[in-house]
Amino acid sequence: MQHKFIRGKILHFLNNSNDELDYEYFADGLLEIANGHIARIDHWHHFQDQLSDLSQVKHYTDGLIMPGFIDAHMHLANLDALATPADELFSWLNNYIFPAEKRLSDPDYATKISEFFIQQMLHNGTTSAMVFNTIYSHAVDALFNAAEKRNMRLITGKTVGDRNLPDYLLELPEAAYIESKHLIQKWHKKPKTRLLYAITPRFVPTTTDALFEQLSQLKIEFPDLHVHTHISETVKDVEWTKTLTGLSSYLSTYEKYGLVTKGTLLAHGIYLTEDEMQRIAKANAGVAFCPTSNLFLGSGLFNLQKANACHMQVGLGSDLGAGTSFSLLQTLNEGYKTLRLQEQVLPALEGFYLSTLGSAKALGIDNYVGNLECGKEADFIVLDLLGATPLIKRRMSMATTLEEKLLILMMLGDERSICATYVAGKMQYNREVGIN
Ligand code: GUN
Ligand code: ZN
Repeated sequence: MQHKFIRGKILHFLNNSNDELDYEYFADGLLEIANGHIARIDHWHHFQDQLSDLSQVKHYTDGLIMPGFIDAHMHLANLDALATPADELFSWLNNYIFPAEKRLSDPDYATKISEFFIQQMLHNGTTSAMVFNTIYSHAVDALFNAAEKRNMRLITGKTVGDRNLPDYLLELPEAAYIESKHLIQKWHKKPKTRLLYAITPRFVPTTTDALFEQLSQLKIEFPDLHVHTHISETVKDVEWTKTLTGLSSYLSTYEKYGLVTKGTLLAHGIYLTEDEMQRIAKANAGVAFCPTSNLFLGSGLFNLQKANACHMQVGLGSDLGAGTSFSLLQTLNEGYKTLRLQEQVLPALEGFYLSTLGSAKALGIDNYVGNLECGKEADFIVLDLLGATPLIKRRMSMATTLEEKLLILMMLGDERSICATYVAGKMQYNREVGIN
């Protein structure tokens, strides 16, 4: 078996049962990779004497090695509707997003956009994601194919909806069940891949009880499926849902159909009540904090402090499309400001936790990825600590502590700060050479 050795500064977060942020930092560390997994993580000086041939070691002298970023919520089709004018969520969906999804009815376009989407993820250091797809099965195939090519751990699924949508995005509940089931059997945990399927109702306003019953049936038949949907994103969203269901809690509908379990990701959750947050925490489900989207659409400010107090699992999402960047560094930048507007803080270490282990836990994939513990899948990135731009270089040269450097990266960094992206131990992006 071929072993790989990567040397540099290493930071990752540890999975512990208490609420403390627990991390491990190696000022000069080494990762040993075998068979696509982490075989060992240690200080360089512990390894040094055991390596007969130092030329096998790839040394990033100014690099910070971290687990790959995990984007807890993005939309494939929104890529070509980026930066379209939005005065609020629903008009933006009607004017730009539904037509953008329709474009994926063309299989050739679906293949091309999927390739570009995955390349952009890797370029930005994102090695895993949960991605909203479209109603079209061939587009689900296209994204899974693009991820399979790079051996990525990616979660997607066919978006389903049967009310309050344009005709071209509507389907009958039975058809949604049959098509979803076919895709599940084709892709979910497909041998020799890292692909996972998510049951994907867009949100309550576009899903009738009849369709929810079909989705509930799928979850019973395949209990380890993920679930991906939206919740309590805007004031109007919450009010409309209450009117449609007659229920006071948005979450109750998802609960009623058995769709809130470990592996369920609810995007946004800005207007969740404390009680709902506690129920999500108890169910081991997660919520995606999507600050660039929430600010772009003017949806509101996610209350991370309240979520943490309720022990709710929170990950970081670009919500690409409404979100304005693939970069989770840029996403953290806006997350920081979102919290400042509520007199809360986002220390850099917590930010980097959210974008790695936090997202992995929110998606229920932390047994595979999210940190660099022995046995985990070897998805990692190398961040440029010297400074990817003259401005970052200048600020970095003044920083002395790890926290200061991380804050500079998260406020000033973007894809230019990603030196390399490794997926299952294999380099898939290198800033000097480009994308694989
Ligand atoms: N809620 C329902 N659909 C969508 C979507 O496509 N984007 C966002 N941001 N929110 C939604
Ligand atoms: Zn979304």
